Amino acid sequence: MTRVILMGPPGSGKGTQASYIASLLQVNSISTGDLFRSNLSGGTELGLIAKEYMESGEYVPDDITIGMIMNWVMDPQNDSGFVLDGFPRTMRQAEELDSRLGHNKVDMVVFFDVAFNLLIERLTGRWICQACQRPYHHLFAPPDQEKICNSCGGDLYQREDDKLEVVENRLKIYRESTEPVLEYYSQTNKLQNLDASRSIEVVRGDLASLLKEKVS
Ligand code: AP5
Repeated sequence: MTRVILMGPPGSGKGTQASYIASLLQVNSISTGDLFRSNLSGGTELGLIAKEYMESGEYVPDDITIGMIMNWVMDPQNDSGFVLDGFPRTMRQAEELDSRLGHNKVDMVVFFDVAFNLLIERLTGRWICQACQRPYHHLFAPPDQEKICNSCGGDLYQREDDKLEVVENRLKIYRESTEPVLEYYSQTNKLQNLDASRSIEVVRGDLASLLKEKVS
C-alpha cells in the first residue's frame, strides 16, 4: 500500500504531476480543488458553499473539506493507496487524516518548493481543461491547439481565483495555515523536499527517482 501527499503553495505544480505519480504507483489520485470545482459546475449544494471561499482565495471550512475527503480516502477502491493533491492544508485536516488512517500511515509527503515570485507567473498564465481538469500554461506547457485540451479535446478556461488579487490572498492563507502542516510532517521524517522551480520534465524525473528510492 502506498500513500503519498503532495503539498506546496498554489501554482507549485502539484496538479501537473499528480496523475503521473498516481500512474507510477498504480493508485488513484484526488485533488480537493478539482472536487470543489466539479461540484460547482454541477451546481451541487457543496459547490455553492465552496464557491464563495474559493473565489476570494480562502480555504473551505474544515468540517466540509474533511467530510468530503474522508469518504474518498476510506473507500475500499483506495485500499491499495492513493495520492492526495491539496489535502491536508490545515493542522486539523492533518490530525484528522492521521486519526482515521492510524498514526504514521502516510508513506511520503512531497513538498513542491518554489520561490514565491515564480508562482504568480505560473498561476496568471494557467489554462485548465473544463472536462478533465488537466492544467496548461501559455508559455511553459502550451496545448497543441489553442484553448483545446490535448488529452480529451475539452475547452480550456482560466480560473477566477487565478486573478492577481485573489492569488495574493491564496499565498497569504497558504503561509498562515499550511506552512505549519509542513512542520508537522517534517517531524515524522516523511517529508521530502523537491525543488519544483525547474522545468516540468526535470521535476517529473526527480519525482520518479524519489518514489523509486523511498517508496517500495
Ligand atoms: P486548488 O485547486 O488545490 O488550488 P491550489 O493549491 O491553490 O493549487 P493550484 O491548483 O493553484 O496549483 P498546483 O500546485 O496544482 O499547480 P499546477 O500544477 O496547476 O484549490 C483551490 C481552492 O479550493 C483553494 O483556494 C480553497 O479555496 C479550496 N481548497 C482546496 N483544497 C482545500 C483544502 N484541503 N482545505 C480547504 N480548502 C481547500 O501548475 C500551475 C501552473 O504552472 C500551470 O499553468 C502549469 O502548467 C504550470 N507549471 C506546473 N509545473 C511547472 C514547472 N515545473 N515549470 C513551469 N510551469 C509549471
